[in-house]
Amino acid sequence: MSYGPAPEADAPARQWIAARSGVFGHYIGGQWVQASETFEVQEPATGNVLAQVAQGSQADVDAAVAAARAALPAWQAQGDHARARWLYAIARGIQKHARHFAVLESLDNGKPIRETRDIDIPLVARHFYHHAGWAQLLGSEFPGTHAYGVVGQVIPWNFPLLMLAWKVAPALAAGNTVVLKPAEYTPLTALRFAELVHEIGLPPGVFNLVTGDGRTGAAIVEHPGVDKIAFTGSTDVGRAIRKATAGSGKGLSLELGGKSPFIVFEDADLDSVVEGVVDAIWFNQGQVCCAGSRLLVQEGVAERLLEKLRDRMERLRVGSPLDKAVDMGAIVAPVQLDRIRQLCAQGVEEGATCWQPSWGVPADGWFHPPTLFTDVAPSSTIAQVEIFGPVLVSMTFRTPEEAVALANNTPFGLAASVWSENINLALDIAPRLKSGVVWINSTNLFDAAAGFGGYRESGFGREGGREGMWEYLKPERTHLGAPLPVIETAAVAVDAGPDDTHDDTADGTVDDSLSNGLPSIDRTPKLFIGGKQARPDSGYSRVVHALDGRAVGEVGDGNRKDIRNAVEAAQAASGWARLSGHQRAQILYYIAENLSARAAEFSARITSMTGDDRAAGDAEVSAAISRLFTYAAWADKHDGAVHDVPLRGVALAMHEPIGVVGVACPDPYPLLGLVSLVAPLLATGNRVVVIPSERFPLSATDLYSVLETSDVPAGVVNLVTGGRDGLARTLADHDDVDALWYFGSHAGATAVEKASAANLKRTWTEWTGREWLDPRAGEGREFLRRAVQVKNIWIPYGE
Ligand code: NAI
Repeated sequence: MSYGPAPEADAPARQWIAARSGVFGHYIGGQWVQASETFEVQEPATGNVLAQVAQGSQADVDAAVAAARAALPAWQAQGDHARARWLYAIARGIQKHARHFAVLESLDNGKPIRETRDIDIPLVARHFYHHAGWAQLLGSEFPGTHAYGVVGQVIPWNFPLLMLAWKVAPALAAGNTVVLKPAEYTPLTALRFAELVHEIGLPPGVFNLVTGDGRTGAAIVEHPGVDKIAFTGSTDVGRAIRKATAGSGKGLSLELGGKSPFIVFEDADLDSVVEGVVDAIWFNQGQVCCAGSRLLVQEGVAERLLEKLRDRMERLRVGSPLDKAVDMGAIVAPVQLDRIRQLCAQGVEEGATCWQPSWGVPADGWFHPPTLFTDVAPSSTIAQVEIFGPVLVSMTFRTPEEAVALANNTPFGLAASVWSENINLALDIAPRLKSGVVWINSTNLFDAAAGFGGYRESGFGREGGREGMWEYLKPERTHLGAPLPVIETAAVAVDAGPDDTHDDTADGTVDDSLSNGLPSIDRTPKLFIGGKQARPDSGYSRVVHALDGRAVGEVGDGNRKDIRNAVEAAQAASGWARLSGHQRAQILYYIAENLSARAAEFSARITSMTGDDRAAGDAEVSAAISRLFTYAAWADKHDGAVHDVPLRGVALAMHEPIGVVGVACPDPYPLLGLVSLVAPLLATGNRVVVIPSERFPLSATDLYSVLETSDVPAGVVNLVTGGRDGLARTLADHDDVDALWYFGSHAGATAVEKASAANLKRTWTEWTGREWLDPRAGEGREFLRRAVQVKNIWIPYGE
């Protein structure tokens, strides 16, 4: 039996283009703006030109940002219900024109109409409906927050309208206005979307569309009038954006590439697995950031599975995207096709075996056959690099441990798929995978109610669900009064080196000089690494001066080597993440208890450094004890959620620790600042490498003995005193540090954010003061949210 063609009519979509003479401008401030420079958009299935589209200039971006800014006050004044109505109207509009959008998307992107009709466009509508709901509930569900303001959004070409929906819906629901740039290969559905919002009368300037290539994207990213950037695309561009926004104070979320494992255990239902693989890597021609591109199969069933797979591949159909019976359409652009071919050639060169079906793909247009590589070395290029095409690489494993090790053997961490009929095994593997999404016996499932986003070099931030809304909201802090002034280190000399002279009475603790003429017994604290006090590698100490300039003690002058040792110790302490919340709470309570027993001493220490009166010292110590109680309380309560997704399953949104987190502490409130940052990280299962206040580090060094007597496992808390910005920079550069919280100077924050681009670690930087004593500023969910990453585990559930 052979298939006849079953073409979807494309006349309405082509007429829509023709009615605009095939030329499109930008949509700015509610008006269509023509540009002097345009570029061609081609049809991947034929290579023919579909349209001429405007190349956005700096002036266009300026105008769009100005329009978005101007629209902001009125948009926010409309209130939650009104914004819900607008989002609802957009959802309805999408549904009304669903087929038009689907055909246009298939023409422009080359993906099969079956996918645009049944997956992309329905999910777009679902996203706007879901977020109409969040707009309605904003005030009640996100109290104490406000929108960022003007949001710049840059999206890729693989799901053009769906990525627009993922970005625009939450941004508008939260009360932001938007400047969006679609990918240069696929701007048509975004242009049609702009017409839709115009038709329904969305206030001018709330949604602005500027088309163009990477230069236009860069202009949006760098624009000083933009308050937050949301990006989906390649890891390289994600890195460039991280660097470009460093120190700007802009919010940033990045959804980047992946090399996602598809893990098959020998007890899996292999026929389901085969269909799963088809959806994992041949859906959208494999141009999917979370494509299951690495097939990891348990040895015993590998041959049988591969045989079934080849059989299925032989029966896949590649052809016109508008044919309702094709499984795979065209690759988006010649440059992408070349890249796929090059990587396949490299795979063969590196010794892997390439298998493709016996039939050929259409010669016109940019098609690539489904491809399977076997005999692949885990370290080879095709096993490590994102191919972004219909190319599957397969490897085998023997034990679950080996499966986990292979799965995590990549710098990415976007998604993973686990196949086993043994629920114990599948749910044992899921938490051990370093990825933001795990699908059990399923793959490539998406829904507006479930968060999506990566770990590690797959980026940070989530899209969808409650967790996605947080990306477009900031905590409201204006009611807490003016920010504290930052105490500039430069204002008081910090001496370092063996020749440094200081007040003889000064030491690491209290004045113990005797009147009999003997020198005091030196108690200069060392560093605290791996549960032990360690001498600084430099062999230097630095003098601690009180605000009035008096030398009040010395601390070790930590360097890069000390930071590296501390990170190693923290990495080794991974058992902390596996303790229950209750166990972690017990230890936080114990720290509080021991701190309380020495409250007077800690208070005296604070006042000796800051010059504040004793009441201020007492207040700071009490607040630190209370803060430890707060996070002991939270340790077993900051749990995740179960997302209700409209499929046969649920998505468990688990709060996982980020891992090893570097913390550079603020100078004001030397004890409380440290405790406020470290306690939420510990409560949620992270290990920390802490740079205490550079100006006033003695409260931190006094903590060593508190930690030693509070059952804190070795390596969970490491403290390295010394020059904040230099040490923070080393932490930012370190690939085994997963996140960095920096509370210091603007220059230091900028340097940290820039350096963090290397392994795309999560950063939280602040260079204005916080009123740490006030619990509304100094503790709470903001800290807890920053301390975890959400993993969405999709499990079959119900009928
Ligand atoms: P890309 O990252 O260059 O393009 C994505 C978007 O970023 C486009 O709108 C583009 O115009 C824009 N852009 C490019 N340079 C920019 C800059 N400096 N500043 C701001 N925006 C900029 O991806 P490209 O070149 O289209 O594809 C290359 C590879 O990237 C693919 O082979 C694939 O591996 C990966 N990719 C991953 C995607 C994902 O969903 N994770 C999506 C698209 C590509």
